[in-house]
Amino acid sequence: MAPPLTILLRAILALIFVLATSHPLIGHSYVTASTSIIGNDRGGVVEALLKWKSSLKGQGLSLLSSWNSTIPSCSWVGISCDSSRRIVSLNMSSYNLNGMLQNLNFSSFRDLTTLVLANISLSGTIPHSIGNLSKLNYLDLSQNELSGDIPPSIANIANLSYVDFGINKLEGTLP
Ligand SMILES: *[C@@H]1O[C@H](CO)[C@@H](O)[C@H](O)[C@H]1NC(C)=O
Ligand SMILES: *[C@@H]1O[C@H](CO)[C@@H](O)[C@H](O)[C@H]1NC(C)=O
Ligand SMILES: *[C@@H]1O[C@H](CO)[C@@H](O)[C@H](O)[C@H]1NC(C)=O
Ligand SMILES: *[C@@H]1O[C@H](CO)[C@@H](O)[C@H](O)[C@H]1NC(C)=O
Ligand SMILES: *[C@@H]1O[C@H](CO)[C@@H](O)[C@H](O)[C@H]1NC(C)=O
Ligand SMILES: *[C@@H]1O[C@H](CO)[C@@H](O)[C@H](O)[C@H]1NC(C)=O
Repeated sequence: MAPPLTILLRAILALIFVLATSHPLIGHSYVTASTSIIGNDRGGVVEALLKWKSSLKGQGLSLLSSWNSTIPSCSWVGISCDSSRRIVSLNMSSYNLNGMLQNLNFSSFRDLTTLVLANISLSGTIPHSIGNLSKLNYLDLSQNELSGDIPPSIANIANLSYVDFGINKLEGTLP
């Protein structure tokens, strides 16, 4: 019995729709996007890398400015992904990062095939959990200040074809 009201209602709804899709606040989807990058943090890699970053003390930390949750992790410096956007390589050399390998949560890096952290002032020990990087093919931790034993768990990595622990203070031999 009130068609004019229906028309008015439709007009208001149409106006709201136009405003909602054209309003400059649509730039707000930027914030949503960054949240969903975290939401898609497969295996917790982003969390693991940002945690590790926050533990670093070297002057080279400024070189890791791309390691920011507002940027997709596949675009971070030192990181490479496969076509399915899984992180397959962490490769950084000669950045003075001054950190410890223990602070990097290896359980998140199931797909890593290349790990190069050479001459970045790493200290402490090599965690046994490095043996969880089951797809690792290339491992270079040379020219750091790593100490302690070479973890026997490295023997679990079936496909490891290149290993360089040169110029560290490690003990023991490759299992
Ligand atoms: C390491 O990552 C795994 C997988 O995301 C998680 O379950 C575990 O709690 C993490 N460990 C630490 C010490 O943060
Ligand atoms: C991440 O990037 C945003 C946007 O560029 C910036 O405001 C923020 O300070 C950065 N966070 C860190 C920890 O660098
Ligand atoms: C690591 O990165 C450097 C510089 O981008 C590159 O020359 C080198 O081939 C990479 N190493 C591996 C094992 O991918
Ligand atoms: C190691 O890294 C430092 C920068 O932190 C650089 O000056 C030096 O030349 C590098 N050494 C080698 C052998 O690459
Ligand atoms: C990772 O490696 C450690 C030490 O080798 C082992 O105790 C642990 O169960 C492994 N974690 C996973 C999730 O496989
Ligand atoms: C072992 O590494 C080679 C590259 O050297 C790769 O082509 C192959 O797929 C890897 N195999 C496994 C089981 O990860």
